[in-house]
Amino acid sequence: MRSIHWAVASGGFVLLGIVGANIGIGLAESGGAGSSSQNAAAPKTPVEELQAEIKKLQELVPDQAAIMTHVGYHWTNLWFALDKQNWPLADFYLSETRNNLKWAVRNRPFRKTAAGVIDLGSIAQALDTTQFTQLKDAIGKKDKDRGIKLYEEAMQGCFACHKASEKPYLVPRRPEAPEVNVINFAADAKAP
Ligand code: HEC
Repeated sequence: MRSIHWAVASGGFVLLGIVGANIGIGLAESGGAGSSSQNAAAPKTPVEELQAEIKKLQELVPDQAAIMTHVGYHWTNLWFALDKQNWPLADFYLSETRNNLKWAVRNRPFRKTAAGVIDLGSIAQALDTTQFTQLKDAIGKKDKDRGIKLYEEAMQGCFACHKASEKPYLVPRRPEAPEVNVINFAADAKAP
């Protein structure tokens, strides 16, 4: 993310330099971002403003660990929806889990480890096209036994990625309590 943003910003700077040259101000004279000839009180150039804005925005984006807590939240609730055979709710929580995992990967697609660079996107996609897809099918067919089996299998996939990311201490397990209390898991709940 960062490198792309900076590449765009520096591209903008090059463009600005050319505009400056066209109106007769040399690039060296016009003094771009970081020029020592420019005094600190000088107004910010558009590129400097853009860079500051990008930095501010980057600080607002949640990090991968924060997004993973959403994965954990929805995945936990999915267990209880499955257990109560509340199929529409199970479908909802599975779909949220899948979206959260995609978001987590977009946030940080690669991780450097001692074993080399890990491609999180392909690990997540493998999980999505196998266990998650089959789990959606089991939920659609209201097959609780298969759903539970696939839930357990998928957790091997969660753990495989944690291990590959050098976080073998993040060991998923069957949850003991839902992450949410205000939602009724009962399959026959029709109103608050
Ligand atoms: C593609 C790789 C990948 C997959 C698949 C994956 N995770 Fe993660 N998960 C991570 C990484 C990387 C971290 C640590 C992020 C960090 O520390 O910056 C993490 C962290 C977590 C955390 C800890 C968050 C915190 O800060 O407390 C939870 C909970 C979690 N994952 C749950 C799951 C569950 C449940 C699944 C499966 C449904 C899953 N993860 C699948 C890569 C993955």
